[in-house]
Amino acid sequence: MQLSLSPPLAFATSRYSQVQVVFLMVPGVLFCCFLLLLVYLQWQYHPKDKRLPPGSMGWPYIGETLKLYAENPNSFFFNRQKRFGDIFKTHILGCPCVMISSPEAARIVLVTRAHLFKPTYPTSKEKMIGPEALFFHQGAYHSRLKKLVQASFLPSAIRGSVSEIEQIVLRFLPSWKNTTINTLQEMKRYAFDVAVISAFGEKQDLEMEGIKHLYQRLEKGYNSMPLDLPGTPFHKAMKARKQLNETLKKLIQKRRQSRRQGGGLLGVLLGDKDDEKLNNQLSDSQIADNIIGVIFAAHDTTASVLTWILKYLHDNEDLLEAVTREQEGIRSKLVEANRGLTWDDTRRMPLTSRVIQETLRTASILSFTFREAVQDVEFEGFFIPKGWKVLPLFRSIHHCADFFPRPEKFDPSRFEVPPKPNTFMPFGNGLHSCPGSELAKLEMLILLHHLTTTYRWQTVGDDDGIQYGPFPVPRCGLPVRVSRRNKSAIL
Ligand code: HEM
Repeated sequence: MQLSLSPPLAFATSRYSQVQVVFLMVPGVLFCCFLLLLVYLQWQYHPKDKRLPPGSMGWPYIGETLKLYAENPNSFFFNRQKRFGDIFKTHILGCPCVMISSPEAARIVLVTRAHLFKPTYPTSKEKMIGPEALFFHQGAYHSRLKKLVQASFLPSAIRGSVSEIEQIVLRFLPSWKNTTINTLQEMKRYAFDVAVISAFGEKQDLEMEGIKHLYQRLEKGYNSMPLDLPGTPFHKAMKARKQLNETLKKLIQKRRQSRRQGGGLLGVLLGDKDDEKLNNQLSDSQIADNIIGVIFAAHDTTASVLTWILKYLHDNEDLLEAVTREQEGIRSKLVEANRGLTWDDTRRMPLTSRVIQETLRTASILSFTFREAVQDVEFEGFFIPKGWKVLPLFRSIHHCADFFPRPEKFDPSRFEVPPKPNTFMPFGNGLHSCPGSELAKLEMLILLHHLTTTYRWQTVGDDDGIQYGPFPVPRCGLPVRVSRRNKSAIL
């Protein structure tokens, strides 16, 4: 029956002879072939006297994207590194890429020749976070903002936040008792609250509830398909982003008019004047984009690492008891002096700090970062064409047996001696390295102090496996049943 035939065949049997059909189709097919050839040539092109890194570019346009998704990302990188060496090319998500897994080469990209490799993000992410956030910039604007953000998160700036962060912990923990929690979700709530006080200061403005609510709506669509059509999660997130901008601008205006800059990063940004151009304050949208950017950078990352810490401590009972002993030592001093934690207490937690370091290494939640060559670059004997993405693979370096023997073993004692230079980069390296590393570690230490001395947790269901969302975390966000610790148990 004609209706059931596929369109070209139906077409052939109706008005034209098969010869005519072939005649009509040939130019179309040739045109398609020509287009494919153009795409292929553009994608393979490089000057013939220059040597691209070894590796496979896969299929035209789709490259090796399907392989990356079919394998897990870690074995994808590992297999290619084994086959092609520490610098290899591939083609993923529509982009030709060079992957880098030696500490020296990563340092060149991130530090010594960083000006040749700019940070690069998908446009949809840039729109959602805000194009004026520091991540997306280089040069004078980036360094102006980086100085301000760094100044807000230096140990000297955050040491006064210990008791505020402790108060947040003490609000959260009792609500977990005798319930099953989704570790990742709870850690996100905790890290979000810490990020909010770091961004806006201790004193909460009236707008804060609205801001939190809008931010949560924005976050829901952050990892969705960037399809800006009514009803899509992306569209809803972008709508929330616009409203968030308006609310933040009102708050900024209010603080400017009252001449009360207030605390947190917002206070620092409001107070800044460019030295060279007197009175050149940051604009409202520059401030808003950077506040949202910092909250973004701060909370999912820290929450994912905390989730892994709970998993590793759960799986290593002796280690959990040893950490608890360290924390009990501090706890007894606090009880004796009838006071809360201080910054100095947090500096006396060597084992707990090593657990954090080993978690940062083992889990390597930022497996890699993205840069883009701003011009053709001669690199370690290879040629990297302008526009190619360059990815330093933190995880591969953290899991290299030459630097971390038996890399799959969770062993905090390996950090009793400092790692070799440039082999441990959980917070990146160079100009764009993380300004929030001290805050992240501080909030983990404070939470671990109270959690280990007061509670125990048991995983619920099958706790093996990893999910990506976008950071790797234990499967299903690690559901655990929390109960009060039996203090009479021998430590
Ligand atoms: C355990 C938690 C965290 C991890 C693993 C982490 C990791 C990183 C890494 C690897 C980079 C560098 C990215 C690159 O070079 O492309 C980075 C950048 C950044 N992080 Fe973090 N981060 C964490 C927590 C935080 C916190 C708490 C804050 C906020 C206070 C923060 C704010 C930022 C910002 C603003 C940047 C961009 C810096 C720039 O472009 O100059 N991060 N982070």
